[in-house]
Amino acid sequence: MSQRIPVIIDTDMGVDDAYAVMLAFSSPLLKVLGITTSYGNVAVDTSTLNAIKILELLEKRARVAKGASGPLFGKSRNYSNTRGAFLHGKDGLGNVGYTLPDPVHIEVDSDAVSYMAELIEKEETRVTLISLGPLTNIATLLIAYPDIRKRIDGIAMMGGSVYGGNMLPAGEANIVADPEAAQIVLQSGVRIVMCGLESAEKAYFIKDDLEMFRLIGGSVGRFYYDMSRDYLAANEKLTGERRAVIYDSVPVAWLINPAVLRTKPCYVEVDLNGQYTRACTVTDENCTDRRPNTMVAFDLDRDIFVKMHIDAFRRYR
Ligand code: RIB
Ligand code: CA
Repeated sequence: MSQRIPVIIDTDMGVDDAYAVMLAFSSPLLKVLGITTSYGNVAVDTSTLNAIKILELLEKRARVAKGASGPLFGKSRNYSNTRGAFLHGKDGLGNVGYTLPDPVHIEVDSDAVSYMAELIEKEETRVTLISLGPLTNIATLLIAYPDIRKRIDGIAMMGGSVYGGNMLPAGEANIVADPEAAQIVLQSGVRIVMCGLESAEKAYFIKDDLEMFRLIGGSVGRFYYDMSRDYLAANEKLTGERRAVIYDSVPVAWLINPAVLRTKPCYVEVDLNGQYTRACTVTDENCTDRRPNTMVAFDLDRDIFVKMHIDAFRRYR
Protein backbone atom coordinates (compact mmCIF):
# COMPACT_ATOMS: atom_id res chain seq x y z
CA MET A 1 0.00 0.00 0.00
CA SER A 2 1.25 3.49 -0.74
CA GLN A 3 2.12 5.70 2.15
CA ARG A 4 -0.82 6.78 4.31
CA ILE A 5 -1.80 10.46 4.26
CA PRO A 6 -0.97 12.07 7.62
CA VAL A 7 -3.85 14.28 8.76
CA ILE A 8 -4.83 16.48 11.69
CA ILE A 9 -8.55 16.99 12.26
CA ASP A 10 -9.72 20.37 13.55
CA THR A 11 -13.31 20.13 14.77
CA ASP A 12 -16.17 21.81 16.64
CA MET A 13 -17.35 18.30 17.46
CA GLY A 14 -21.04 17.99 16.71
CA VAL A 15 -22.97 15.14 15.12
CA ASP A 16 -21.58 15.46 11.58
CA ASP A 17 -18.05 16.03 12.93
CA ALA A 18 -18.37 12.74 14.81
CA TYR A 19 -19.17 10.95 11.53
CA ALA A 20 -16.14 12.56 9.88
CA VAL A 21 -13.83 11.43 12.68
CA MET A 22 -15.27 7.91 12.57
CA LEU A 23 -14.74 7.79 8.79
CA ALA A 24 -11.18 9.12 9.01
CA PHE A 25 -10.10 6.60 11.64
CA SER A 26 -11.67 3.74 9.71
CA SER A 27 -9.63 4.37 6.59
CA PRO A 28 -6.39 2.49 5.92
CA LEU A 29 -5.42 5.41 3.65
CA LEU A 30 -5.34 8.03 6.39
CA LYS A 31 -3.09 8.33 9.41
CA VAL A 32 -4.80 10.57 11.98
CA LEU A 33 -2.03 12.30 13.94
CA GLY A 34 -4.26 14.19 16.34
CA ILE A 35 -7.45 16.13 16.92
CA THR A 36 -7.78 19.82 17.72
CA THR A 37 -10.99 21.41 18.88
CA SER A 38 -12.78 24.74 18.79
CA TYR A 39 -16.04 26.50 19.58
CA GLY A 40 -18.81 26.32 16.98
CA ASN A 41 -21.59 23.77 17.25
CA VAL A 42 -20.91 23.78 20.99
CA ALA A 43 -18.56 25.63 23.31
CA VAL A 44 -14.94 24.51 23.11
CA ASP A 45 -14.96 22.61 26.42
CA THR A 46 -17.88 20.54 25.19
CA SER A 47 -16.38 19.93 21.77
CA THR A 48 -13.16 18.79 23.47
CA LEU A 49 -15.03 16.40 25.76
CA ASN A 50 -16.99 15.10 22.77
CA ALA A 51 -13.80 14.47 20.81
CA ILE A 52 -12.38 12.44 23.68
CA LYS A 53 -15.58 10.46 24.13
CA ILE A 54 -15.80 9.65 20.42
CA LEU A 55 -12.16 8.51 20.34
CA GLU A 56 -12.81 6.20 23.26
CA LEU A 57 -15.94 4.82 21.60
CA LEU A 58 -13.92 4.11 18.46
CA GLU A 59 -11.11 2.66 20.62
CA LYS A 60 -8.59 4.98 18.99
CA ARG A 61 -5.72 6.52 20.89
CA ALA A 62 -4.78 10.02 19.72
CA ARG A 63 -4.08 13.16 21.63
CA VAL A 64 -6.72 15.88 21.68
CA ALA A 65 -5.79 19.53 22.04
CA LYS A 66 -8.22 22.23 23.02
CA GLY A 67 -8.22 25.33 20.84
CA ALA A 68 -10.09 28.58 20.29
CA SER A 69 -13.10 29.58 22.34
CA GLY A 70 -14.07 32.40 19.96
CA PRO A 71 -13.11 34.14 16.73
CA LEU A 72 -9.93 36.09 16.03
CA PHE A 73 -11.65 39.47 16.22
CA GLY A 74 -14.84 40.71 17.78
CA LYS A 75 -17.64 38.66 19.13
CA SER A 76 -18.71 35.37 17.69
CA ARG A 77 -22.17 34.95 16.28
CA ASN A 78 -22.58 32.28 18.88
CA TYR A 79 -24.48 29.51 17.19
CA SER A 80 -23.85 26.95 19.90
CA ASN A 81 -26.92 28.39 21.66
CA THR A 82 -29.08 28.55 18.58
CA ARG A 83 -28.46 26.61 15.37
CA GLY A 84 -25.86 24.39 17.05
CA ALA A 85 -28.05 23.32 19.96
CA PHE A 86 -31.08 22.92 17.72
CA LEU A 87 -29.32 20.64 15.25
CA HIS A 88 -26.67 18.88 17.33
CA GLY A 89 -28.43 18.81 20.71
CA LYS A 90 -27.35 20.63 23.86
CA ASP A 91 -24.37 18.30 24.24
CA GLY A 92 -23.38 18.43 20.56
CA LEU A 93 -23.87 14.68 20.25
CA GLY A 94 -27.60 14.50 19.57
CA ASN A 95 -28.46 14.59 23.31
CA VAL A 96 -27.05 11.09 23.78
CA GLY A 97 -23.42 11.94 24.60
CA TYR A 98 -24.21 11.17 28.27
CA THR A 99 -24.62 7.49 27.34
CA LEU A 100 -20.89 7.32 26.61
CA PRO A 101 -18.69 6.62 29.63
CA ASP A 102 -16.59 9.36 31.16
CA PRO A 103 -13.25 9.25 29.36
CA VAL A 104 -10.27 7.69 31.08
CA HIS A 105 -7.40 7.28 28.65
CA ILE A 106 -6.96 10.21 26.41
CA GLU A 107 -4.54 13.00 27.12
CA VAL A 108 -5.68 16.58 26.56
CA ASP A 109 -3.35 19.34 25.59
CA SER A 110 -4.32 22.92 26.32
CA ASP A 111 -2.86 24.55 23.22
CA ALA A 112 -4.20 23.35 19.90
CA VAL A 113 -2.02 25.64 17.80
CA SER A 114 1.34 24.63 19.22
CA TYR A 115 0.19 21.02 19.24
CA MET A 116 -0.60 21.24 15.49
CA ALA A 117 2.79 22.83 14.85
CA GLU A 118 4.55 20.12 16.84
CA LEU A 119 2.77 17.33 14.97
CA ILE A 120 3.45 18.91 11.57
CA GLU A 121 7.13 19.53 12.28
CA LYS A 122 7.65 16.01 13.62
CA GLU A 123 6.10 14.26 10.61
CA GLU A 124 8.44 13.20 7.81
CA THR A 125 6.03 13.99 5.01
CA ARG A 126 3.81 17.02 4.58
CA VAL A 127 0.62 16.96 6.60
CA THR A 128 -2.96 17.57 5.46
CA LEU A 129 -5.30 19.54 7.71
CA ILE A 130 -8.96 18.59 7.79
CA SER A 131 -11.02 21.56 8.86
CA LEU A 132 -14.53 20.84 10.15
CA GLY A 133 -15.35 23.98 12.13
CA PRO A 134 -14.53 27.70 12.30
CA LEU A 135 -11.05 28.35 10.86
CA THR A 136 -9.73 30.14 13.93
CA ASN A 137 -7.16 27.51 15.00
CA ILE A 138 -5.77 27.06 11.50
CA ALA A 139 -5.52 30.80 10.80
CA THR A 140 -3.71 31.26 14.12
CA LEU A 141 -1.29 28.48 13.21
CA LEU A 142 -0.51 30.11 9.85
CA ILE A 143 0.13 33.47 11.52
CA ALA A 144 2.09 32.20 14.50
CA TYR A 145 4.27 29.83 12.44
CA PRO A 146 4.76 31.54 9.06
CA ASP A 147 7.13 28.84 7.76
CA ILE A 148 4.78 26.00 8.57
CA ARG A 149 2.83 26.34 5.32
CA LYS A 150 5.70 24.58 3.51
CA ARG A 151 5.07 21.54 5.67
CA ILE A 152 1.32 21.54 5.01
CA ASP A 153 0.26 19.55 1.96
CA GLY A 154 -3.19 21.08 1.86
CA ILE A 155 -6.35 21.89 3.76
CA ALA A 156 -9.49 19.88 3.08
CA MET A 157 -12.20 22.01 4.55
CA MET A 158 -15.91 21.87 5.11
CA GLY A 159 -16.99 25.46 4.84
CA GLY A 160 -18.30 28.13 2.54
CA SER A 161 -20.62 27.99 -0.43
CA VAL A 162 -20.87 29.35 -3.94
CA TYR A 163 -24.57 30.14 -4.20
CA GLY A 164 -26.05 30.80 -0.76
CA GLY A 165 -25.68 30.22 2.96
CA ASN A 166 -27.20 28.13 5.72
CA MET A 167 -26.49 30.31 8.75
CA LEU A 168 -27.05 33.60 6.91
CA PRO A 169 -28.57 34.17 3.47
CA ALA A 170 -25.08 34.26 1.98
CA GLY A 171 -23.01 32.76 4.80
CA GLU A 172 -22.19 29.16 5.72
CA ALA A 173 -21.85 28.49 9.47
CA ASN A 174 -18.11 27.74 9.67
CA ILE A 175 -17.26 30.92 7.78
CA VAL A 176 -19.84 33.03 9.63
CA ALA A 177 -18.25 31.98 12.92
CA ASP A 178 -14.94 33.63 11.99
CA PRO A 179 -14.84 35.31 8.56
CA GLU A 180 -11.41 36.90 9.15
CA ALA A 181 -9.87 33.53 9.95
CA ALA A 182 -11.41 32.02 6.84
CA GLN A 183 -10.02 34.84 4.72
CA ILE A 184 -6.51 34.35 6.18
CA VAL A 185 -6.65 30.66 5.34
CA LEU A 186 -7.98 31.20 1.81
CA GLN A 187 -5.31 33.81 1.11
CA SER A 188 -2.47 31.79 2.64
CA GLY A 189 -1.23 30.12 -0.52
CA VAL A 190 -1.80 26.67 0.98
CA ARG A 191 -3.69 24.29 -1.35
CA ILE A 192 -7.33 24.23 -0.34
CA VAL A 193 -10.26 22.03 -1.22
CA MET A 194 -13.46 23.83 -0.27
CA CYS A 195 -16.27 21.39 0.39
CA GLY A 196 -19.05 23.92 0.70
CA LEU A 197 -22.80 23.62 0.72
CA GLU A 198 -23.07 22.67 -2.98
CA SER A 199 -21.50 19.29 -2.22
CA ALA A 200 -22.15 19.00 1.53
CA GLU A 201 -25.92 19.34 1.30
CA LYS A 202 -25.91 16.28 -0.96
CA ALA A 203 -24.01 14.36 1.72
CA TYR A 204 -27.06 13.13 3.59
CA PHE A 205 -28.36 9.93 5.09
CA ILE A 206 -31.97 8.84 5.13
CA LYS A 207 -33.52 6.73 7.87
CA ASP A 208 -32.75 3.48 6.00
CA ASP A 209 -29.05 4.36 5.81
CA LEU A 210 -28.99 5.02 9.55
CA GLU A 211 -30.78 1.69 10.23
CA MET A 212 -28.12 -0.05 8.17
CA PHE A 213 -25.32 1.58 10.20
CA ARG A 214 -27.03 0.37 13.37
CA LEU A 215 -27.27 -3.17 12.05
CA ILE A 216 -23.70 -3.49 10.81
CA GLY A 217 -21.66 -1.31 13.11
CA GLY A 218 -21.82 -3.01 16.54
CA SER A 219 -21.70 -0.60 19.49
CA VAL A 220 -20.29 2.13 17.25
CA GLY A 221 -23.13 1.76 14.74
CA ARG A 222 -25.70 1.73 17.55
CA PHE A 223 -24.32 4.91 19.10
CA TYR A 224 -24.24 6.72 15.74
CA TYR A 225 -27.82 5.64 15.07
CA ASP A 226 -28.96 7.01 18.44
CA MET A 227 -26.92 10.19 17.97
CA SER A 228 -28.56 10.81 14.59
CA ARG A 229 -32.22 10.51 15.64
CA ASP A 230 -32.75 14.04 16.99
CA TYR A 231 -30.41 15.37 14.31
CA LEU A 232 -32.56 13.84 11.57
CA ALA A 233 -35.71 15.33 13.10
CA ALA A 234 -34.08 18.76 13.51
CA ASN A 235 -32.82 18.70 9.90
CA GLU A 236 -36.37 17.95 8.79
CA LYS A 237 -37.75 20.89 10.77
CA LEU A 238 -35.15 23.14 9.23
CA THR A 239 -35.36 22.05 5.61
CA GLY A 240 -38.57 20.07 5.23
CA GLU A 241 -36.52 17.08 4.05
CA ARG A 242 -36.08 13.94 6.17
CA ARG A 243 -32.34 13.84 5.70
CA ALA A 244 -29.44 13.90 8.14
CA VAL A 245 -26.92 16.12 6.36
CA ILE A 246 -23.40 14.97 7.24
CA TYR A 247 -21.48 17.99 5.97
CA ASP A 248 -18.22 17.22 7.71
CA SER A 249 -17.64 13.77 6.28
CA VAL A 250 -17.23 15.36 2.84
CA PRO A 251 -13.57 16.49 3.05
CA VAL A 252 -12.63 13.17 4.66
CA ALA A 253 -14.49 11.24 1.96
CA TRP A 254 -12.65 13.24 -0.71
CA LEU A 255 -9.26 12.41 0.81
CA ILE A 256 -10.17 8.73 0.80
CA ASN A 257 -11.68 8.73 -2.70
CA PRO A 258 -11.53 11.96 -4.76
CA ALA A 259 -14.13 10.50 -7.17
CA VAL A 260 -16.80 11.34 -4.59
CA LEU A 261 -16.63 15.03 -5.58
CA ARG A 262 -16.69 17.05 -8.76
CA THR A 263 -14.34 19.96 -8.20
CA LYS A 264 -13.17 22.94 -10.18
CA PRO A 265 -10.32 25.41 -9.56
CA CYS A 266 -11.73 28.83 -8.61
CA TYR A 267 -10.66 32.03 -6.96
CA VAL A 268 -12.39 32.42 -3.59
CA GLU A 269 -12.29 35.11 -0.96
CA VAL A 270 -14.43 36.05 1.99
CA ASP A 271 -16.49 39.24 1.95
CA LEU A 272 -15.55 40.95 5.21
CA ASN A 273 -17.45 44.21 4.76
CA GLY A 274 -20.80 43.53 3.15
CA GLN A 275 -23.87 44.70 5.02
CA TYR A 276 -25.80 41.58 3.96
CA THR A 277 -22.99 39.46 2.58
CA ARG A 278 -20.32 39.54 5.30
CA ALA A 279 -18.90 35.99 5.58
CA CYS A 280 -19.99 35.07 2.08
CA THR A 281 -17.30 33.10 0.22
CA VAL A 282 -17.30 35.01 -3.05
CA THR A 283 -16.34 32.52 -5.75
CA ASP A 284 -15.00 33.49 -9.12
CA GLU A 285 -15.67 30.34 -11.10
CA ASN A 286 -14.01 31.71 -14.22
CA CYS A 287 -11.02 33.21 -12.43
CA THR A 288 -11.53 36.34 -14.50
CA ASP A 289 -8.56 38.30 -13.26
CA ARG A 290 -7.05 36.07 -10.56
CA ARG A 291 -5.29 32.77 -10.45
CA PRO A 292 -7.27 29.98 -8.75
CA ASN A 293 -6.54 29.60 -5.03
CA THR A 294 -9.07 26.89 -4.16
CA MET A 295 -10.51 23.67 -5.58
CA VAL A 296 -14.23 24.13 -5.08
CA ALA A 297 -16.57 21.14 -4.83
CA PHE A 298 -19.70 21.57 -6.92
CA ASP A 299 -21.23 18.13 -6.67
CA LEU A 300 -21.11 14.92 -4.64
CA ASP A 301 -21.81 11.31 -5.61
CA ARG A 302 -24.12 10.16 -2.83
CA ASP A 303 -23.86 6.47 -3.71
CA ILE A 304 -20.09 6.54 -3.18
CA PHE A 305 -20.55 8.61 -0.02
CA VAL A 306 -23.06 6.21 1.57
CA LYS A 307 -21.02 3.14 0.58
CA MET A 308 -17.92 4.60 2.20
CA HIS A 309 -19.78 4.97 5.48
CA ILE A 310 -21.12 1.42 5.28
CA ASP A 311 -17.57 0.15 4.76
CA ALA A 312 -16.40 2.30 7.65
CA PHE A 313 -19.01 0.97 10.08
CA ARG A 314 -18.11 -2.60 9.04
CA ARG A 315 -14.55 -1.96 10.20
CA TYR A 316 -15.76 -1.15 13.75
CA ARG A 317 -17.74 -4.37 14.22
O1 RIB B 1 -22.45 24.41 7.90
C1 RIB B 1 -22.15 23.15 8.37
C2 RIB B 1 -20.96 23.16 9.31
O2 RIB B 1 -21.27 23.90 10.48
C3 RIB B 1 -20.54 21.80 9.79
O3 RIB B 1 -19.15 21.78 9.98
C4 RIB B 1 -21.24 21.70 11.12
O4 RIB B 1 -20.66 20.73 11.96
C5 RIB B 1 -21.10 23.09 11.64
O5 RIB B 1 -19.82 23.27 12.18
CA1 CA C 1 -18.35 20.97 12.18
